[in-house]
Amino acid sequence: MAEPVIIDCDPGHDDALALLLAAGDSRLRLLGVTTVAGNQTLDKTTRNALRILALAGAVDVPVAAGSDRPLVGELTVAEDIHGSSGLDGPELDVPVAEVAGVHAIELTRRLIAGSDRSVTLIATGPLTNVALLLRSHPEVMPRVRRVVFMGGSTERGNTTPYGEFNIATDPEAADIVLRSGLPVTMIGLNVTHQALATDEVIAEFLAMGTRLGVICAELMTFFASTYRRVFGFAHPPVHDPIAVAAVLEPSLVRTVEAPVLVELGGAYTRGATVVDLHRRTGHSPNADVAVGLDVQAFWRLLMDAVGRLNRAP
Ligand code: RIB
Ligand code: CA
Repeated sequence: MAEPVIIDCDPGHDDALALLLAAGDSRLRLLGVTTVAGNQTLDKTTRNALRILALAGAVDVPVAAGSDRPLVGELTVAEDIHGSSGLDGPELDVPVAEVAGVHAIELTRRLIAGSDRSVTLIATGPLTNVALLLRSHPEVMPRVRRVVFMGGSTERGNTTPYGEFNIATDPEAADIVLRSGLPVTMIGLNVTHQALATDEVIAEFLAMGTRLGVICAELMTFFASTYRRVFGFAHPPVHDPIAVAAVLEPSLVRTVEAPVLVELGGAYTRGATVVDLHRRTGHSPNADVAVGLDVQAFWRLLMDAVGRLNRAP
């Protein structure tokens, strides 16, 4: 039976692949998609989510916009990485579908309440919406199977030396989620940096011979140009679809239970995820932390999902 999931995202090139993976694998039932400000402003991440779902043929999946800023402080978008649209590279159609007429938190609450099974929340952007859901509707928590988020790192960060973008954008939200008591899986940079969209990956997208394949190739080509310029990477890491893969096939991602503490005050380290792998802090474990990835199996999973979407009527 398909696993019911809700994806909260900030598309974003890698968020786009996460949505395609979820839409293209029938082992997941994508109940809804909610958007958050992060890679770009909320209006742009929302428009991008609609565009990607339309490309995937998933126009029946409700989309609702959420928070347009972090809980504390101001939003700083990642225009240097994702471009002014948030999905620079390909020419994408103007979205046809409309957003649901409710806030992301209300849509999520309704979908969880209406699901016949507990729901897995997959977050691939700042955790602002998830934190606000847990704070404003704690009654949903018994029906949340797990929160799987792409964010943080057991090592160094990206947006600051020790802050990964999703967590560093809204550290307070990450702290709320990690202290919630819910089962949480953290997919950090230490793992996602292994999933690189190489020239062979781009060639495989192009070899599909479909518009979706070309668009994926163009997304990754743009993403490669910005990752090369900003971080000196030869190829861009696709962070977000690994959070979806971890739900689809948990065996692909090796995890260890550990305390994860979010630095809220550090003058230079605010937003760092302090992962106590050797239990030195005395804190109790609060997350399953990804420490390994079957990279080849991940790419097979993603390519098969996109391939199925190519063939969808
Ligand atoms: O640090 C990488 C994460 O930040 C990814 O989710 C990317 O899409 C951005 O949101
Ligand atoms: Ca993202």
